[in-house]
This record gives sequence, structure tokens and C-alpha cells, in this order.
Amino acid sequence: MNKLNLFVLCILTVTCSYVAAKEKVVVCYYGTWATYRHGDGQFDVAQINTDLCTHLIYTFVGINNQGVVISLDPWLDLPDNWGRDNFRKFNALKQYKPSLKTLLAVGGWNEGSAKYSVMAASPTLRNNFITSAIEMVLKYGFDGFDIDWEYPNGRDSVYGKADIDNFTLLLKEMRAEFDKHGLLLSAAVAAAGSVAASYYNIPAFTQYVDYVNLMTYDMYGAWDSVTGHNAPLHKGQGDENVARENVFTVDLALEYWLQQGCPADKLVLGIPLYGRTFQLTNANNNGVRAPASGAGIAGPWTATSGFIGYNEFCLRLKTESWDLRYDSLAKVPYAVQGRNWVSYDDPNSIAVKIEHALQYNIAGAMIWSIETDDFRGKCAGDFPLLRAINQALGKYSATTTPAASSTTTTSTTTTTTTTPKPAQTSTTTTSQPTTTSTTTTTQPAQTTTTTTSRPATSSTSTTTLAPSSSVCQREGFNPDPTSCNSFYVCVMGGYGVLVPHRFTCSADLHWDQQNLVCNYSHQANCKN
Ligand SMILES: *[C@@H]1O[C@H](CO)[C@@H](O)[C@H](O)[C@H]1NC(C)=O
Ligand SMILES: *[C@@H]1O[C@H](CO)[C@@H](O)[C@H](O)[C@H]1NC(C)=O
Repeated sequence: MNKLNLFVLCILTVTCSYVAAKEKVVVCYYGTWATYRHGDGQFDVAQINTDLCTHLIYTFVGINNQGVVISLDPWLDLPDNWGRDNFRKFNALKQYKPSLKTLLAVGGWNEGSAKYSVMAASPTLRNNFITSAIEMVLKYGFDGFDIDWEYPNGRDSVYGKADIDNFTLLLKEMRAEFDKHGLLLSAAVAAAGSVAASYYNIPAFTQYVDYVNLMTYDMYGAWDSVTGHNAPLHKGQGDENVARENVFTVDLALEYWLQQGCPADKLVLGIPLYGRTFQLTNANNNGVRAPASGAGIAGPWTATSGFIGYNEFCLRLKTESWDLRYDSLAKVPYAVQGRNWVSYDDPNSIAVKIEHALQYNIAGAMIWSIETDDFRGKCAGDFPLLRAINQALGKYSATTTPAASSTTTTSTTTTTTTTPKPAQTSTTTTSQPTTTSTTTTTQPAQTTTTTTSRPATSSTSTTTLAPSSSVCQREGFNPDPTSCNSFYVCVMGGYGVLVPHRFTCSADLHWDQQNLVCNYSHQANCKN
């Protein structure tokens, strides 16, 4: 049916059910730790543009040893102890778009596989998991749950091959309970066939989920000894003599999942809103599959070498001189500058990928992740990549939509900044990306505020209950009336009330309210 007929049909039937039935999904993952990024990298719930997503996924919660779903960052997720209350704010976005669906994701790269392997193997722990997941979803108003177990029978899995059937069993049991509440269930999965074959029983588990979010990215990265594309559509330059099946590509992954029996109308194509960076061994040998010696440039906000947000990279492209190239076989761009080599996606490569994928009649597209699109529109218009996705999926996309009708007040005057958490991406390759692995950052080493240029060094934050909001005499830094060793950062909360966050100076340093630093006790002049 062509567009004109469709249009006529819509007018005639009024309900437009034909179109509605075929509406493509745009699944937007949100890496919630972007709230802690500084300056223009900071992305809180209020920055989400609900016009550009049909599904929003909040990442990540974790599980404890009993399989119970837990918040990994209670201060961020929950309202307790003057927390940011983001679970609630995230779901409040639906006020502005009743058709929007929200899901809560468990797992992710940093959670590893071990706990999930143990949980899925035990009827009791599975029950704990399912019961607590539903409880959390219902309590905060999510519409569903997304499982990012990375990976069954992979990485640090405890039970190995048994994970494969246990994963299916877990989803089967979840489906039964979720149906009682009308909840959505999806899973994020490793895309490449050669890897997915050892992680999943595809026809078995896919019957229990609503969507399969295919992580068609991280195909090549700084863990490889030669340059390669993050998410090539096809086999590209430099691989002319390699068999098609021996190269990780988006196209091959799609084909594999469909051939294995994943229903097309559940399959969601993952699109990376970030690039992968390499350092060339020799600046003069700079094509695809050129020798590389490790991770390349990092962005100012995601601060992870080997990885760069599109928002970070587009600014560099705009202000620096780069040699922009296009791999006409793989259908993706890359950029070279001296020994720097960056693989990324732009609006054009995204359009080409989606157009190709649509011939398989898949459900739509997924992004990892919304906070690295150019959401402030620093390079061109705002959300250029997410808009390209909407456009390629045939959705209306206005050129200038204001960032999310805000339900929430963001604190713009004072920001407590932690050491940025590593970009939590997942690899579909067998080799592990050393650059994005493991480390969960501990306590913030430093607090800064945008109202003063003096950082308080050598302090650690706690989110312990502050005695009373009366400690907030002013926005920003305040002394702790009960202790010289600690201080408060007071942030304007959602209701115009200053919300205190308590920080502790390291060792026996004292808070110095005059210089706004943790200082030696004899210089800090604390009179408590
Ligand atoms: C799940 O894993 C456990 C531990 O290896 C195993 O005993 C059990 O049979 C597995 N269940 C299924 C359904 O495969
Ligand atoms: C510590 O206090 C002294 C005395 O007020 C001051 O001169 C010094 O600059 C302070 N240290 C820092 C790091 O600000």
C-alpha cells in the first residue's frame, strides 16, 4: 500500500487502525547515571523527549544474592533521604504522552552474569526475582521489565550451559506472572550469531517476551588489534577476502535471529548513539582494518577511552579538522585525525540501516542510549540521531520540538558530581572490551558546584539522612552544625525546597566554609 492510499484509508476509517497495528516501536534506553555528568553532558529525566520514543527503558537495577531486585543507586532512583526520585519522575513522563510505555531494566554489563546464573537455576530464587520485579514495577508505575543478563552461559556464569534452558524457564515463569498484571517483558540480547548461539535457545525464549532488543553494536572496538566499525551494516572495506559469515555485521545478526525463529514483529534493531575510538599504530595506515594499538579518544562527559558519545564527537567534528570517510560497503562513516580513528553512526548511516532492516518487517529500532544523542542540539538540531530513526521508521518528526515537557525541576544551580561511571555498554564480541569493563566507581572523589569555581577536594559523599533541612542556609555548600569533618551540598529540589546532601571530608580534614574546601583542621577554622 502506498502512502496516498494509506492516507485515504485513514480518512475513511477515521480510526486508522491499519496504521496503528503496524506502528513501529522506538525503544529508548536511558543510562540514568548521566545525571551525574557535568556541564552539557548532564542528562536527567527532564531532558527526555517523549515525542521521539514509544518505549523508555530505565537502566539499571540489580539483584542481591537472594535474587531480589534492588536499586543500585537508591539516592538517584528513590525519594528517600532527599533522593532524586527518578523512578517516579520517569513514569510521570507518561502524563504528557499516555501512549508511552516505560520499562525497568535489570542487569547490564557491570552486573555480570554470576548472580543471574545462580538465580535462574533455583526455583526459590527465580520466584524471589519475579515477585520483587513485579512489586517494583507496580510500585513505581512502570509498564514492564527488561532483562539484560549479560550473558547466560557467558562471562562469569556459574552454571554455564545450564543457563540457556534456565533463562528460557525464567522468562516462561515471568510471562505467566506478568500476564496477570498486563505487564510488558523484553530482553536485551547479544546480537552476533556466533555468540548468540551459545547464549540462547532463540525459538524457545522469544515466545515469552514482547520484544527482543538486539544489541547490534560493539561489533568491533579498541579490544581488537585492528580498526573496525562499531555497527557495520555489511562486510566492509578491508574484509574483501573474508567470508561474509566471519565478519560481525548488523545484517548478518538480523538474518541469524530471524532464521533461528525469532518472530520478526518482536525483533528490535539496536542503534548505537555513540562511537568506538581507536589509536592507530601508524597515522599513515589509517583505513578500515588498519593496525591499532588500543583505545583512542574519550569524551569530556562519558570519560571512557575507546568510547565517545555522539554529542561529544559531533562537537569535535564541528570544531576540529577531521578526515571524514565513508565505508561504502559497510555503509557507515568513520573519521581520522592523526593517530585518532573513530567509528560512529550519523543520521545517514542510521537511515540506511533502518531502511535495510525494514524489509524484514521487524518491530522497530532501539537506541543505546538517549543521553549520548546531541540532545542539546549543540551541533545541529536537538536529538539528530533519534529524529533520523523516527523519520526512517516513517514517523512524524518535527524539526524543533522542545526538550521534554518537564515534569521535574532539574537543579541547575548546584550539581554534585561523581567520578563518571563507565559507559555501560555491552559487547557482542567474544573478546571483552577492556575499556568498558567492570569498575563500579566508589564514592565521588570530588564535589564541585557550578556556582563556585573552588572544588572541595578529598571528600566522600554519603546519602545518609540529614538531621533537618535547616542545615541548608543557602544553596550550595553549607557547614555541618554537628561535625567539622562533614558538610552539606544543598540542591534546589522539585518543590522549591533546598535538599541537603551530606559529604564527609577524607581522613581528618575539616570543612572550611570560607574557602569551600576540606582543609587541614588548624586552617579550617571550624568552631564546632
Ligand atoms: C538449571 O540449572 C541447574 C543448575 O545447573 C540445573 O540443575 C537445572 O536442571 C537447570 N534447569 C533447566 C530447566 O535446565
Ligand atoms: C586552607 O585554609 C588556609 C587558611 O585560610 C588557606 O590559606 C588555604 O588556601 C586553604 N586551603 C585550600 C586548599 O583552599
